[in-house]
Amino acid sequence: MQSLNAIARKLVTRGKGILAADESEGTIAKRFAVIGLPVTLETRRDYREMLFRSREAMDKYISGVILTEETLEQNARDGTPFRQLFADSGVIPGIKVDRGAFPMPGSADEKITEGLDGLRQRLKHYADLGAGFAKWRGVIAVTDHAPSRNGIRANAHVLARYATYCQEAGIVPVVEPEVLADGEPGDHSIARCEDITTETLETVFSELRLAGVDLSGMVLKPNMITPGLRSREQISVEDVAQRTVNVLRATVPAAVPGIAFLSGGQSDEEATAHLSAMNQVGPLPWVLTFSYGRALQSSALLTWNGDPANVAAAQAAFTHRARMNALASLGEWRPELDLAA
Ligand code: G3H
Repeated sequence: MQSLNAIARKLVTRGKGILAADESEGTIAKRFAVIGLPVTLETRRDYREMLFRSREAMDKYISGVILTEETLEQNARDGTPFRQLFADSGVIPGIKVDRGAFPMPGSADEKITEGLDGLRQRLKHYADLGAGFAKWRGVIAVTDHAPSRNGIRANAHVLARYATYCQEAGIVPVVEPEVLADGEPGDHSIARCEDITTETLETVFSELRLAGVDLSGMVLKPNMITPGLRSREQISVEDVAQRTVNVLRATVPAAVPGIAFLSGGQSDEEATAHLSAMNQVGPLPWVLTFSYGRALQSSALLTWNGDPANVAAAQAAFTHRARMNALASLGEWRPELDLAA
């Protein structure tokens, strides 16, 4: 069996990143609504098969894919297990194990992620199916009243408990505390995001240490430091990059092998530009790469549009975006490369 550190390092191999394809049924329904497609087991499978059979992207730019339980056990239309496609491309399958974020008792604006009950048994099953890593998302809302100290601490605590169960099962935990940019009202300043993310990451690492999590066998999946999506603040790409790196330097131990960002509602190009700029800031103790959902998939989804005739074009769109982000993970993306596409 590969060590946790070996799997974590493979996930953050330089020049590669993670495809987050673990949308819940509710979330994929929202994505399909944009192209007017009904959500069925078959449409979900066909869409994800289009992504997973993008051979160039999967071989060259993707290190791991985050899946739902449904997809981890699913076969392609011709009966080939998706897991076989990942093995053929050297991609590590991962699994979203949280059961979603629910209202936190006593705190109207905040949520707490559930899913710890029975997790030990589920992880054993996922490990038997070949999952090398897992994901759990803690949601930190930003409103006039939130987050509270209790909300940050409760989410950090369950992230740490999840991480211990994963490591016990030989599965690398991707630890995702997301300070929401696209929540309600979503008009907060970049300074507020900076303060809240700093407190959140400090608390998460304090809980991870307390729980005895091996920091060399995990990957952090944070938000970048940006204003809320509905804020009018104008912030340069360089400013986002510098502030994000500053917060990470202040809070993330060097023992963590890599940081794979969520895209959080940023446009495709913004998410790529920010990642590239961060990788130009200077020597860093960890690899910085992507673990994007929307910012990797949106152009492919629109191009596919639910029509089998569009599969090749959609795969080309996905491959292009994956390549742009792979370049960004090396600090080598330039706007002209996107314009030329
Ligand atoms: O948990 C969040 C997803 O894995 C990343 O999604 O890049 O669309 O924010 P996103």
